[in-house]
Amino acid sequence: PSVSARKGSLFHFGSTHDIFAPAAEADWTSDKFWNVWNHIVAENGCKWYDTEPEPFVSNLTDCKGVQQYAIDHGCTFRGHNTFWHSQTPAWLPGNVSASDLVNKVIPNHVETEISGLGSYVTSWDVTNELIGDSTTMGMDAWECVESADRWPTVTVDGGSTPLVTNLSFAYAAWSTALKYDPGKLVYNDYSTGATNNSKTECVFKLITDLHENAGIPYSRMGVGHQSHVGAMPGYFVPKDQLETTFQRLADMGVDALITEMDMWIPSNTTAALRYQAAIWGDYIDACLYSSNCHEFINWDNRDDTSWITPGPGHGVAMPTLFDANGNPKPVYYEVLARF
Ligand code: XIL
Repeated sequence: PSVSARKGSLFHFGSTHDIFAPAAEADWTSDKFWNVWNHIVAENGCKWYDTEPEPFVSNLTDCKGVQQYAIDHGCTFRGHNTFWHSQTPAWLPGNVSASDLVNKVIPNHVETEISGLGSYVTSWDVTNELIGDSTTMGMDAWECVESADRWPTVTVDGGSTPLVTNLSFAYAAWSTALKYDPGKLVYNDYSTGATNNSKTECVFKLITDLHENAGIPYSRMGVGHQSHVGAMPGYFVPKDQLETTFQRLADMGVDALITEMDMWIPSNTTAALRYQAAIWGDYIDACLYSSNCHEFINWDNRDDTSWITPGPGHGVAMPTLFDANGNPKPVYYEVLARF
């Protein structure tokens, strides 16, 4: 697999895979993972709906399958994710009490998944997308999460109050992860990384709160910047801002990661494809030249299998390194040139 001249094998550069991926992609990825990437994450196979299909019944087949795939191809593996409001099992939202969620359901799920996958994991997304999209400057960590207006911070049981009204559910996930995870514990979210930005400020509030109130050492923490972006000014984070944010994390002793990079383009033109290449290269450089950034995941393998499809808000999509035939695009050559 690719090794960076700048960071050597300390730079984990990879993509998504699932053992239930379409056969055509599975064939294609086995070749590409061997030659291009050295790092793999399950696109869906480690999510809660798949790993705990019945209450307190763990099924790690798909999650461990991707980990084994990584091992078989000489790649490292990262865990995504133990707690998210989305892609939960059908039995969960609306059917547990707040105290069961915090004291039993979350600890059991996090312990079972993290201990089940063992030590061959670089980092786990312990909590995914807790923070809202309509944050404002000055919110405290709970207000940031409350503003997400999502399960479990909204009413799910037909009653008049939200299921949880404080960060105890996040503390439960993180303190359990701290006990069982030998690698980095990551807070992962989208639309983060810009400076003078309330969502990014919320990330800092949240990790500080987790440190102060759940006892999570900064040296064990990372912040994952998903980076689902667009190749148009205003739709991505400029490199100098990423660098500033990564440095601010480094000053705290916290890692920075790019965890789900994809970039739609507004039109299928040479100019747009070259712009995509330039900006993606900037993200690579922001990571490579930051002392605390060691993982960079490209989300989805090729344009025809990406979860981002053409349409309003996503232009003509084409958001990955490889085109719909599996051939490398300008962005692919640009990215590898930065190594
Ligand atoms: C997406 C997958 O790519 C899709 O296949 C699935 O249908 C929905 O989830 N943020 C995340 C990822 O953290 O888990 C999401 O992945 C994309 C947004």
